This record gives sequence, structure tokens and C-alpha cells, in this order.
Amino acid sequence: MADLKFRTHHGMVDILPSEVSKWQFVEQVIRKTAKKFDFEEIRTPIMEPTGLIARGVGQLTDIVSKEMFNFERGDDQFVLRPEGTAPVARAFIQHHLSQYGGSQKLFYIGPFFRAERPQKGRQRQFHQFGAELIGSQNPLADAEIIAFMLEIYNQIGIKNTILNINSIGDPETRLVYKEELKNYFKPYLNKLSELSQKRFETNPMRILDSKEKEDLPFLDNAPRIIDYLSNNSALHYSNLKKYLESMNILYQENPYLVRGLDYYSETAFELISPDLGGQDALGGGGRYDLLIEEVGGPLTPAVGFACGMERLFIAAEAAEIDLNQPSSLEVYIVTRGEKAQKWALEMLPILRANNLSCTMDFMDRSLKAQMKEANKKKTKYAIIVGENELTSNIFTLRSMDRSEEVQLGLDELLEKLTLIQNTSIETKE
Ligand code: HAM
Repeated sequence: MADLKFRTHHGMVDILPSEVSKWQFVEQVIRKTAKKFDFEEIRTPIMEPTGLIARGVGQLTDIVSKEMFNFERGDDQFVLRPEGTAPVARAFIQHHLSQYGGSQKLFYIGPFFRAERPQKGRQRQFHQFGAELIGSQNPLADAEIIAFMLEIYNQIGIKNTILNINSIGDPETRLVYKEELKNYFKPYLNKLSELSQKRFETNPMRILDSKEKEDLPFLDNAPRIIDYLSNNSALHYSNLKKYLESMNILYQENPYLVRGLDYYSETAFELISPDLGGQDALGGGGRYDLLIEEVGGPLTPAVGFACGMERLFIAAEAAEIDLNQPSSLEVYIVTRGEKAQKWALEMLPILRANNLSCTMDFMDRSLKAQMKEANKKKTKYAIIVGENELTSNIFTLRSMDRSEEVQLGLDELLEKLTLIQNTSIETKE
């Protein structure tokens, strides 16, 4: 590795121009799908008060106890947001979004930060798209959220996925269940991994999430939370399954699915891809009926999901889906000599006023080098201009993909390019 003076922080990556088109394409798919599902975009700050995240996500979670990027300014303490649900809950309360009545259907796309050990599909700055449906306790809302999440992958063409669902019940159910789990694991405690031994005291349900090989033999026979659900929770869960079936959404029940954030109750789900390796969750979510009250708002039920953009790209690559979009440069003005450069500089705004994307050489390069660059940019047309063209007022317009050239006066040249622009507008989208 070159001995650089400065480089990105461990686990944070630059998204270079060659990759940006696939990001823009996926963001466009998300926005179009959101529109079809009637979700509105919300943008919250990158920094949030530490207290909000600690309260919302949970003091004992890995995210809060180990993975926060913390800041202090004066007496205020902030973190780089590690997830989007607590911030959206804060915004919902702060702006009294409940005043608009009905349920709020919100979505977001943006960067999030967790100081985890970087590996494939796991970064310290990563990007999520997510959605929150706030205000409804009905499992119809859970089904709508899941359908929205799946439709995005469907639109992209990622098919090799498994939807895992579970119910983690209400707080009373979990109190009883946690005791049952502790009774079950107690005899094996010293055989469990160090991490699970810790979790035995703090959050025994997270032991079920363990991937440590010492723990695996004890997981299969652990008690299942669905056997302890209250009547209401059991009804919510069975209705959700009924709705998913009626929407032809395939799911797998995973009675040991628990999530790494504390705000969940009732429904929990994850979208898994076998193509991802160790970090196999494309996304996940669930119900968080108590979070908004926990962070200072009125008791408001809600359900949501979030998915990792980087993981979506890994899954797309495994499925050999090319998300890069073709370059869209329409005109490159190839110049020879200073006068031609000046002519080109004056021509660019005229072309741009006609909605054509265009550029020229800014480095006094040879004709050959300029043509090479125009080719590399997959430019549709090159205007070739030198002393002779300026004297005769006849210019060469080269169709780069067909390697054809025509000689045109300035008016004809503009007319032809405007025509191209109009036809390319029709074929755009
Ligand atoms: P989460 O399961 O923590 O849930 O994250 C959702 C998704 O974000 C993961 O499945 C994964 O695809 C991606 N992700 C998380 N951490 C990283 C990382 N370090 N590097 C790359 N990708 C990552 C939440 O964040 C909840 N807020 C979801 C939710 C919304 N629940 C209700 N509403």
C-alpha cells in the first residue's frame, strides 16, 4: 500500500465516479418504489444526541456499548447516527407529525456509522435505505412494510433471498421467556462462548443470535419464544402470516430470530441472502411499539425496516446484475489550437442551453488524446474544430458509435444536435 499522507478512516470508503451510477440507479429504484407505495422521504441530521440513541437503541446493545462514534461540543454530547429509526422517532415527536392524523409512511436513504470490525459487507460508514410506518398497530402495516422492502429487491432483480420472520412478543412475554432461556442455558453456562456468558446476564435472547461454534450445539433445543406468546401477540403474528400468504410473499419462520436493537416487540424479520457470506442479512426490521414513548413521545405503535446498500450491491454482483448505467455524455468538442479552444468554450453554454451534456479538453492535449477520451466517455458525438473549420465555418460532426462523419455549418450543426437531444429524451427513462 502506498505510503499516503492521508487516507480514509478504517472501514470508510470513497464511492468513485465509476461506481456512482449504480448508486444513483438503485436510489432511483427506491424512490420510484416508495412513490408507488406512498412512502414520503424524510432526511434527518447525521449527528444525533447521544441520549436519544442510547435510550432508543438500548444501553446494553453492541451498537451503543461498543460501536458509537461520540463527540462533545460544549455541554452537548452527540453521536454519528448508527441507525435511522430512533432519529425518525425523534423527528416524529419534535415536529408533531401525528397532528396530520392517520399513519405516517416515511422512508430514508443515507449514511450511517458503526465502529465495527470491517469485513466484507460490514463497514464503519455504510448506507441504508429504510422505511417506518408510524401510527398503526395492525399487522396490515407489518405486511405493507415487508412488501415495500421486497419490492425494491424485486425491481433490481435480486431473487436469491429468504425472508425470515418471528415474533418476539410483548415485554411481559419476554420477561417470562428470558427466565426460561436462562434456566435452559444455565447447566451449560461454562461451555458457552465468552460473549454468550456475558449475554446470559445482560440479554439472554441474544445468545440465540450467536454464530460462535461453542454455542451452536446448545441452540437447537433452546425454548422457542413463539411457545410463550400472549394471546394478543400470537394473534398479531398469525394475522401477519395470513396477510403475507394472501400477498404471495414467501417466508420462513425462524423461532430463534432476535434482533440486535432493544426497541423491538412483536414482529421481527430479516431478509437473508446466501450470497453474502458471514454478514448474510440484506436487511431487517420489525415492530417497535414502545420506542416513541421511550424517547419522549406519546405511546405510538410503529413498524419499519432498513437494508444495507453495500450488501445489496454484493448480492447484485453475485446474481450478475450489472447496475452501472451507460455514460450519458452527448457531445465532446475536440479542438486543435487556441482559437478553437476559445470557440469551444463559447459553444459549451449554447449546447448546455439546449440541454445537451458536453465537455471539451482543458489540458491542451493532442487530437488523438482527445478522441481517445471522448471514446472512453462513450460520447455520442464529437465536434472537431481547428483553424480550417473556423475559417470555413464548416464543422465536422462525428458520430462516435457509428464512426461516421458529416460536415455541417453552425446552424445545421446545432439543429442536428438539438434533434439528437429530443430523440434521446424520448429514449431516456
Ligand atoms: P439493523 O439490522 O441494525 O437494523 O441494520 C439494517 C441493515 O443495515 C443490516 O441488515 C445490514 O444490511 C445493514 N448494516 C448494518 N450495519 C452495517 C455495517 N456495519 N456495514 C454494512 N451494512 C450494515 C436497523 O438499523 C434498524 N433501524 C432497522 C429498522 C427500521 N427497524 C425498524 N425500522
